[in-house]
Amino acid sequence: LHIVHIAAEMAPVAKVGGLGDVVSGLSKALQKRGHLVEIILPKYDCMNHDLISDLKELDMTVHSYFDGQQFGNKIWVGIVAGLPVYFIEPHHPGKFFWRGQYYGEHDDFKRFSFFSRAALELLFQSGKKPDIIHCHDWQTAFVPPLYWDVYSSKGFNSARICFTCHNFEYQGVSPASELASCGLDVHHLHRPDRMQDNSSHERINPVKGAVVYSNIVTTVSPTYAQEVRTAEVFVTGGRGLHETLNFHSRKFVGILNGIDTDAWNPATDSFLKYQYSADDLQAKEENKAALRKHLGLSSANASQPLVGCITRLVPQKGVHLIRHAIYQTLELGGQFILLGSSPVTHIQREFEEISNHFQNHPHVRLILSYDDALSHAIFAASDMFVIPSIFEPCGLTQMIAMRYGSVPIARRTGGLNDSVFDVDDDAIPVQVRNGFTFLVPDEQGLSGAMKRGFKLYMRNPDAWRDLVQKNMAIDFSWDSSSAQYEQLYENSLARARKSSR
Ligand code: GLC
Repeated sequence: LHIVHIAAEMAPVAKVGGLGDVVSGLSKALQKRGHLVEIILPKYDCMNHDLISDLKELDMTVHSYFDGQQFGNKIWVGIVAGLPVYFIEPHHPGKFFWRGQYYGEHDDFKRFSFFSRAALELLFQSGKKPDIIHCHDWQTAFVPPLYWDVYSSKGFNSARICFTCHNFEYQGVSPASELASCGLDVHHLHRPDRMQDNSSHERINPVKGAVVYSNIVTTVSPTYAQEVRTAEVFVTGGRGLHETLNFHSRKFVGILNGIDTDAWNPATDSFLKYQYSADDLQAKEENKAALRKHLGLSSANASQPLVGCITRLVPQKGVHLIRHAIYQTLELGGQFILLGSSPVTHIQREFEEISNHFQNHPHVRLILSYDDALSHAIFAASDMFVIPSIFEPCGLTQMIAMRYGSVPIARRTGGLNDSVFDVDDDAIPVQVRNGFTFLVPDEQGLSGAMKRGFKLYMRNPDAWRDLVQKNMAIDFSWDSSSAQYEQLYENSLARARKSSR
């Protein structure tokens, strides 16, 4: 198949969060399965250009409509992670992708509705006829309605459209009038069964539009797909879209993400001082000793457990529980390392205070920034990894942690519920049990799971080693998930062929 992904992020060139990892991970896996996979991204000034090989400007200008006018776009092409990527550079006075950051601009709606239109225009003008156009999150949610409402009348209609929502918290809800800029018909779309937001009726909701207009809608784990079809429970839920998702449930599925098992491999990871595998756990211990030294933590007790946490500090991730995990770890006699930062000022400030408080503490270190190399070192050094998310569409760190032999302590929600299975839960087959989980998102719930983890670690080192080794052998690659996407694509194309006959 010819598959084109349209997205706002792609790791490693333009990555903010898990979305970037998924776009490249899924694309690579589909390419490996023999498909022609191409990606379209904005040409951000802040991208890591060193990670693009053979970047060159194409000898074509793609004209695309916006606010009643045509604007030229320069098109660049290069190779990222072995995949062909097209970068769109708009010649628009708004300098949409020359902002020094990816998101968080006052005009994000304009920036990305422009991009969605220009991406389709690139396909149309270059004569590409992909079988599948796969878009991701609200930034490219304009693609499905544009494709069927604007482009299909130009004879550009042979593709099936797949939309993946990585987080229903972000739906791009905006005043209806904004929609017209990219050429969508507000009167036609501002209706309850199309793009009208379910709670603020004068607004439109791009993610809702994508759900209505796509042939295939996915999210990033089976449990989250269930959760978003209900009204809020513990704040997990469809964020107002549950009725829409229920109405369209036949085309909606949850597929658990994989991780890039080449980039995340303790046996070859060049960020690590000591590479290791399941049958050489001594080297994992050496990474722990090295990291303690590097961060100035006490090494007096070699077998003192080290708890890691790597996360963006946003409410979704359970910040109050992360704070609690620090104190609980100390109480249980462990060491704690947090790596992460917050885009929310008061949260960042709160953690800066905690960090200062523990500045020279022998057992706690907070590093409030993003540091790729350090993240690898923490996965390798830690014995346990806490992920107390309030909701979590998929979550990738629990899988990386397990691959590095760090046992997850996680709340049973979304993708965590589909990948972390409690060691003490008799309802789960023994061979898949791999971590410690809790359901109620409060301090008591988290403490209970942590206490059970510490108990096993301290009282039964043999059982702990078996658990670590078992976890390191779990297959978290994209192999099976990419096969599921392929199946969805094929089924949708087959249905289209059948109905056109
Ligand atoms: C979003 C979600 C996260 C998921 C990622 C990739 O960042 O919050 O749970 O793993 O997208 O799909």
